Amino acid sequence: MCELKFYIKVYGCQMNQYDAGVIRRIMEESNFIEVSDVKEADIILVLTCSVRSHAEIRALGQLNFWRRLKYEKPGLIIGVLGCMAQNLKDLLIEKFNVDLVVGSDQYRFLPKLINEYYKTKLPQVATEFTMENYEHIIPKTNNASVVGYISIMRGCNNYCSYCIVPYVRGRERSKSLSQIVTEAESLIRHGVKEITLIGQNVLAWHDNNADFLTLLKEIDQLDGYYRLRFLTSHPKDLTVKHWETFSQLKKFCPYIHLPLQSGSNRILALMNRGYTKEEYLEKVMQGRQIIPDLVFTTDVMVGFPTETDDDYKETLDLLGKIKFDFAYMFKYSERPYTKAQKITPKVDAKIAQERLIRLIEYQNKITKERINSYLNKECEILVEFYTYPYSKGRTKDNKMVIIKDKLEIGEIYRCRITNIKGWTLIGEIIDKSNCNVQNKVYYIENLKEGL
Ligand code: 5AD
Ligand code: SF4
Repeated sequence: MCELKFYIKVYGCQMNQYDAGVIRRIMEESNFIEVSDVKEADIILVLTCSVRSHAEIRALGQLNFWRRLKYEKPGLIIGVLGCMAQNLKDLLIEKFNVDLVVGSDQYRFLPKLINEYYKTKLPQVATEFTMENYEHIIPKTNNASVVGYISIMRGCNNYCSYCIVPYVRGRERSKSLSQIVTEAESLIRHGVKEITLIGQNVLAWHDNNADFLTLLKEIDQLDGYYRLRFLTSHPKDLTVKHWETFSQLKKFCPYIHLPLQSGSNRILALMNRGYTKEEYLEKVMQGRQIIPDLVFTTDVMVGFPTETDDDYKETLDLLGKIKFDFAYMFKYSERPYTKAQKITPKVDAKIAQERLIRLIEYQNKITKERINSYLNKECEILVEFYTYPYSKGRTKDNKMVIIKDKLEIGEIYRCRITNIKGWTLIGEIIDKSNCNVQNKVYYIENLKEGL
């Protein structure tokens, strides 16, 4: 069975983007060919997200549309993969005529399941949790990119009371230290200049006696110029020792995503988050003390069951104190299996919506304030794209900068922020010769060695 064409649509978080690369590799190794036009596809794969009901509704809408393509192309296979496959398997087969339902631990079996479908013409379902880590599968990315991701762990054991992740991605498990180092080396050899380690809670990563800090130190000492990022960090696991170690790493970028969720201790306890607002604030202050110019971003939720106006005001107050550079803001969405489903009274949908709107307005002002503080600052950018006549680069603290000049992708330049339009930083290069000479020497040596 060769030369079959597949199309993949990805919803959701960075973990899903990464998993899409794993799926592409698995499919490619079985001689399937990816196409970018859905009409050319023999197989449509939809990698889904279940974190909020809105994400599921969007994917179901898309499935409804694609289902109609089956009339024009009767042999067309539609597969739903990932979190929603785990959550809605019966509905998908019965109401949406889906042919493959493949959970997040079962991607290795996709070619086999497709084969089986062709043989039997019966829907194939594989949703067992197996503590799969996809070790030894280097994800295939579509474009040569200068930013790369490594999933260092999968699943989650935290059971925040609102969250479906532990139920649709399974128990927490860590990828081995040696495999992560191999992936990092491979990314660096392929020209990646920024590595982001990803996982639901990277601070919980471990491999025998090695903890997350050991892992960071190992990766930090690999040769070449590259930047090191990671997400997501759970506040309950963050200690002063983390800040101290981060500050000593050569490649650490002073940017951290630290989901807060709420500024009310009562709500944080109901959410099972494992910290108080005072503890959260103290961790932020320690970080800022040890790593000056550290940038924080966060996730915040409103409308969690029982949230009162006073709880909500505490969230706003804390945002005002901390001044995050950016916040992803959500309205609570009730999810199956979760403890919060049973917590009452629920917050009226209209009130939750109003809270969200006011929260967004409030945080947007802070975000703008933080962006404005970059005017006239000098920073080092890594160039990620060029589309005439603009180059786009990112600072170490994760701000996009636009430069009206043709710069080399993957190179580092020093620039000054000369203007700010909305939330966009506009810069000018200070020194046209890029700062990445050391890196070039490394590359030439690698080429000589035939790497
Ligand atoms: N409702 C709303 N937001 C949620 N998140 C996770 N579960 C839910 C839910 N049930 C948000 C959290 C988390 C981010 C990834 O998504 O803020 O940090
Ligand atoms: Fe969900 Fe909490 Fe785990 Fe994050 S830490 S994935 S919010 S259960």
